[in-house]
Amino acid sequence: MKVLSVVGARPQLVKLAPIAAAFAGTAHQHVIVHTGQHYDHNLSDVFFSGLGIPDPDVHLGVGSGSHGVQTGAVLSAMDPVLEREKPDWVLVYGDTNSTLAGAVSAVKLHIPVAHLEAGLRSFNRAMPEEHNRVLTDHAADLLLAPTEEAVRHLRGEGLGERTHLVGDVMVDVCFKVRDDVLAGRGQALELPEGIDPSQPYLVATLHRAENTDDPARLAALVGALADLPVPVALLAHPRLLARAQSQGLKLAQGAVHPGQPLPYSAMVAAVLGSAGVVTDSGGLQKEAYLLGKPCTTLRTETEWVETLADGWNHLVPNPAELDATAWRELATRPAPSFERGEPYGDGRAAQRVVEVLAANVR
Ligand code: UD1
Repeated sequence: MKVLSVVGARPQLVKLAPIAAAFAGTAHQHVIVHTGQHYDHNLSDVFFSGLGIPDPDVHLGVGSGSHGVQTGAVLSAMDPVLEREKPDWVLVYGDTNSTLAGAVSAVKLHIPVAHLEAGLRSFNRAMPEEHNRVLTDHAADLLLAPTEEAVRHLRGEGLGERTHLVGDVMVDVCFKVRDDVLAGRGQALELPEGIDPSQPYLVATLHRAENTDDPARLAALVGALADLPVPVALLAHPRLLARAQSQGLKLAQGAVHPGQPLPYSAMVAAVLGSAGVVTDSGGLQKEAYLLGKPCTTLRTETEWVETLADGWNHLVPNPAELDATAWRELATRPAPSFERGEPYGDGRAAQRVVEVLAANVR
């Protein structure tokens, strides 16, 4: 079997790592196509080197642009690649513009498409990621769902027959890297200047268009982080930096210590050492949950509803409600002593993905 993975943005590289590792031990051929949606060294290259992913076989180099330009550039660049490679499956990941473009380019050429992380829904149609998920699921031939909840969504949309519950590949990579970090094999802890790792601190990220693109909302969010009672390591995504700069907003204020985005193992180390996480990222909410750290999510909803159980993840859409008192209580809460894999999986999801793909080759 020949499988062609299409990736382009940071969260896809994290998911690619366990998939590439699962293929490495088989006779199957795995071709990696990087669209170039993310091109900064610390959003892309460090994930290949840090997670031991083989270099991409093909780089499309599409870069940034409006949604139409970015999606269209991937679409037109994919045709010759698919015609040359003729894979048995095109495997697309998650919910970015690269995901949708990879899926559409394959279906137009009658090449079977599998969607990893199928069935996630925020039901928020203002999010570009929500359209990318829904359209990709309906285009794909095989839907690889991470959770029972995702399977329910797909069945509700009439896609149950194409759906397989495989578990979440992010559990595979998160637990492996956690174990490396705890055994001293990971990257050293790298926190922004001014944060003392021996004292409680929070890890924060902000990059969703709905939080960064409205100047009043972004200023209110950064202001709320600045007022927190513990230092905040704000690992700033390029979109956040660009929007803050164009809006004349200073990120280094009050408790906020801005820093660069971290490689995966440094991020896991930062979260493990922290009192908790404040974020609008999907992946980081789940990593906080898996690593037993309380999370506050700066959004109206989450696709990872399982993290809301027992108050480990709180949705706080209104920056004025980012409650300092709650943080003091959460920061002193003992981490759970049990393995947090369930309900996301057992750390063997990538292996199951390879098995399901192989069993369904046409
Ligand atoms: C994208 C995904 C989002 C995912 C996120 C992870 C879409 C619609 N969104 O959002 O689902 O959670 O990646 O990071 O696909 N930029 C750089 N360097 C880079 C990449 C981007 O400077 O390497 C800047 C550019 O100014 C660009 C902006 O960031 O315009 C946004 O990048 P884009 O790829 O459009 O979306 P993300 O916000 O990264």
